[in-house]
Amino acid sequence: MTQHQRLLIIDFGSQVTQLIARRLRELNVYCEIHPYNKVDDAFLQSFAPQAVILSGGPDSVTRQGSPRAPEALWSFGVPVLGICYGQQTMMQQLGGLVEHGHGTAEFGRAFVTPTAESLSILDGWFADGREQVWMSHGDHVSKIAPGFQVYGTSPNAPFAVTADPARHFYAVQFHPEVHHTPKGAKLYENFVRLAGFTGDWTMGLYREQAIAAIRQQVGDKKVICALSGGVDSSVTAILIHESIGDQLTCVFVDHGLLRLGEAEQVVAMFRDNYNLNLIHADESELFLGRLEGVSDPERKRKIIGGLFIDVFQKYANGIEGAEFLAQGTLYPDVIESVSFSGGPSVTIKSHHNVGGLPEKMGLKLVEPLRELFKDEVRALGRELGLPASFIGRHPFPGPGLAIRCPGEITVEKLDILRQADAVYIDQIRKHGLYDDIWQAFAAILPMKTVGVMGDGRTYDYAVGLRAVTSVDGMTADTYPFTHDFLGETMTRIINEVKGVNRVFYDITSKPPGTIELE
Ligand code: XMP
Repeated sequence: MTQHQRLLIIDFGSQVTQLIARRLRELNVYCEIHPYNKVDDAFLQSFAPQAVILSGGPDSVTRQGSPRAPEALWSFGVPVLGICYGQQTMMQQLGGLVEHGHGTAEFGRAFVTPTAESLSILDGWFADGREQVWMSHGDHVSKIAPGFQVYGTSPNAPFAVTADPARHFYAVQFHPEVHHTPKGAKLYENFVRLAGFTGDWTMGLYREQAIAAIRQQVGDKKVICALSGGVDSSVTAILIHESIGDQLTCVFVDHGLLRLGEAEQVVAMFRDNYNLNLIHADESELFLGRLEGVSDPERKRKIIGGLFIDVFQKYANGIEGAEFLAQGTLYPDVIESVSFSGGPSVTIKSHHNVGGLPEKMGLKLVEPLRELFKDEVRALGRELGLPASFIGRHPFPGPGLAIRCPGEITVEKLDILRQADAVYIDQIRKHGLYDDIWQAFAAILPMKTVGVMGDGRTYDYAVGLRAVTSVDGMTADTYPFTHDFLGETMTRIINEVKGVNRVFYDITSKPPGTIELE
């Protein structure tokens, strides 16, 4: 969609391929990840990369039929950087040798020392005579390909860094994209500079080009957008609004499972500040009615997901002539990853989305964030003038408070939960901890316990507090609050929220727990 220099990452299935893309985007270099089996000569020609990176991967190049880079790459005339598996296949394909095992596997921290000659991609390395890197390989290169030289070695990887600078082929055995290779970002920076990248991937440019593309795609037709108030849907809506103004109508479905004051804030922000066509669909009675007496987590999720689609469709049908549905799909959702595990994975939770809607309603999709990672969406939000407090908000799940209220949902419980959550978040903000935490929230537990307040007996609800750090929500660690903080928060919740007499702090990481309680 957009015009800028492009780098191609050929994916061989490494767990950390996305991190390569992150490092490059941080350098304002536009890149895309494509699986090795989709990259052929024609693809290379049409993608027209200015450089190519070969990722790591779990296979062994010594295995018959294992993945290879397309042969055309070697005569394509652009710089190539091979990482781990990418290094090994580069060596093998160009006439070197890779061997399996023989006690030279290396996992974890290692130190690379330079050989006599310097290499441009290692500029700024070896201040202490060596450099820490992260290794994760079973195979190793035993003979380098003709034309290559060694520029760095480690005890178990004599060919840790090799290159043929004349052809601009570079190969490293370690993973420069992970944080455990502290100067890894510098290696990528050196590589993209020598490949002639000028850092032309900026949010200002993206905004301009995305607006032009939306105008071209939509023409004078109408677009509808499900606005949740989360960062992705908010940025999508504002970007499209900036492109086509009143041709956009947003539908904010209020399922009665939002946090304290949330619906009012979202409506005020978009209607009053942005003057955006916004339908506030207050359907809380419908949702809460259908959820009455339901305590099974998957049933709750299915009811909410199904109703959401019905309600959205009902309002959307009222918007005459709508031909497009806007969605805040992000790049990680569209990366076609190489799966070596086969078989379908287990469903832990049915996530809430509007997946099947476009076909059902005969709508075309507008997805202006498809090329962006989450932090780029935030940067774009800043560029579009969204307030910092909105951009930095913790993620909030589609099913809302329903999954923070294990067991049956009642209006009384939701009320208590909202108030406890508001006090907890206020505490976190007051202590300046909000931005250090990925997600923090209160839950109301499905039990009452006995307590004593003043001279009287109480029999009230227990509230669970959760706070985690995470990079992508896939794994998470508990946030290490001090006892003082937890004590103060407990006191405030019990004093300020009627109906609570006990507070727990959830110390479960993910895995084995999940972030939400259901
Ligand atoms: P779990 O609980 O699966 O959550 O560890 C991981 C992240 O996903 C969010 N989450 C959801 N987000 N729809 C969403 O949009 C959902 O149905 C949903 N369920 C969980 C959760 O808040 C956390 O950030």
